[in-house]
Amino acid sequence: MEEFSNERLGRLTGMLKRRGVILPAFEIHGGAAGLYDFGPVGGRLRNRVNQNWINHWQSLGNIVEISCPTVTPYAVLEASGHVGEFSDYLTECQKCGEASRADHLIEDEYPNADALSKDELSKLIAKHNPECPNCGDCSWGQIEAQNLMFNTKIGAGTSGRQGFLRPETAQGMFTSFTSIYRHFRERLPFGAVQTGKGYRNEISPRQGMIRLREFNMAELEYFIDPEVQPNHDFSLWNNEVTLLADGSGEISMTIGNAVQQGIIRHPTVGFFMGWTMDFLTNVGINPNHLRFRQHESDEMAHYAEDCWDAEIFGSYGWVECVGIAHRGCYDLAAHEDATGQRLRAWRTFDEPKVVEIDGWTIDGAKAGPAFRALAGQVKSAVEEMSSDTSFPKTIAIDGIDVEILAEHVKRVQRTENVNGEWFIPHVVEPAFGIDRIIWHLLDHSYTETEKSGEDYTLLTLPEAIAPVDVTVLPLYEKDGMGELAQTIHRDLCGRKDVFSVYDASGSIGRRYARADEIGVPWCITIDHDSLTDNSVTLRSRDSGEQVRVSIDDLPF
Ligand code: GLY
Repeated sequence: MEEFSNERLGRLTGMLKRRGVILPAFEIHGGAAGLYDFGPVGGRLRNRVNQNWINHWQSLGNIVEISCPTVTPYAVLEASGHVGEFSDYLTECQKCGEASRADHLIEDEYPNADALSKDELSKLIAKHNPECPNCGDCSWGQIEAQNLMFNTKIGAGTSGRQGFLRPETAQGMFTSFTSIYRHFRERLPFGAVQTGKGYRNEISPRQGMIRLREFNMAELEYFIDPEVQPNHDFSLWNNEVTLLADGSGEISMTIGNAVQQGIIRHPTVGFFMGWTMDFLTNVGINPNHLRFRQHESDEMAHYAEDCWDAEIFGSYGWVECVGIAHRGCYDLAAHEDATGQRLRAWRTFDEPKVVEIDGWTIDGAKAGPAFRALAGQVKSAVEEMSSDTSFPKTIAIDGIDVEILAEHVKRVQRTENVNGEWFIPHVVEPAFGIDRIIWHLLDHSYTETEKSGEDYTLLTLPEAIAPVDVTVLPLYEKDGMGELAQTIHRDLCGRKDVFSVYDASGSIGRRYARADEIGVPWCITIDHDSLTDNSVTLRSRDSGEQVRVSIDDLPF
């Protein structure tokens, strides 16, 4: 495997900072751990990776993009389980006061320490007495669970409500289920994607871009009928991939075989692993540094039934960059329970079935006048209630508390021929950490070599995500060469999906080197001949080849 040394890591991060790709945020005020900027070069790189990700999933044909707020009411994240469950264990150094994640202190000895309980962590820290990463002392305080969400307040003064900055984009897709279901004419399967910021108040973020407090997420929530066997085309991936299945050793096999043998438990999870692999390699991840690892049952998030991580190898070792989770009906059921709103899809039976109905409906004569405009919604809610529901009962409709009395309802008991039923769809979720992916594609494409006896570096980024498509270089800025170069540069910037940089500083060799260093695939040089023959020199980053082309035939 290629060497990813600490020295190389230092040179790479130095270059990324110097060239404005990725740099610590708010540095003039001393910076803040876990917060990074994408600078003048990195901004477009991030944007292109995001857009490629969206296009990749939308090409499946039944995926729509949505955008939900990052500020999220308490009730949403209480229903989703994040208020109760979304925590890490922390402990503080008794000498310097630095907080550390308890599992990180012993992860060299116990690689799966993040699955350990509070008591287990306490015992192991007492046994191994790890050093504080900040001051080297070895005295530790109590271990406490720390919720990772950032608190905020929605509204001012005493009427303000508690909220959080979202820890995942996913919840917006679940709370928007009804609107997405309608958009797809009430036919499963379909999915919604969302890209945007997520927030986690990490206890002790280290390792540069790997552990951030504000980060770029890209998630697909794909809604399926659990009773329909999906028919995916696994012949798209005939190559063997590296799998670490549920605690067993490393195996190499095709994704199709792993699904067939039940190692990957759901075909849609398998299909999305293949689709994820295609995305990652298209944006420049080296396939030899990619593997999939199945979560062990005690490691899974509170909502997941099965989960495979795509892990990428680089300067920080193997790092989880994508999680492909089977979330079952966990989230829709949780939001349905909390709100009383139906978050279900309709399944039509092949043959009508005779079913025993035992439930409730409203007594129109009493409920109509009592609930007026809300009567229809009250009826739907009452008909969803089980036969052992007791009244009076208060439910929320459109944010209004509605009290349903015994006199408003009638018991319904009969047999009926039905041609279908409402059910809660299951969800398969590929969730991508975009910052980690960008870090690794930079790490994999960073190439150190020599040119004319001198150190030379370049980023071999795929054209589809290169932050700058082309640099335009006048050999000199005199005799009209500068003006012609500016005209070409502006013309290129005006073209669809083309971003050009004008560079007239220093020798032409230095300018080529500057372009190569940030992975610009093409350079155009304007010289004296360009003024008379309307042609320029086009240089390729990857081959170094230079060809003369007419300005009218530039390949952008
Ligand atoms: N939605 C998956 C995650 O938060 O990691």
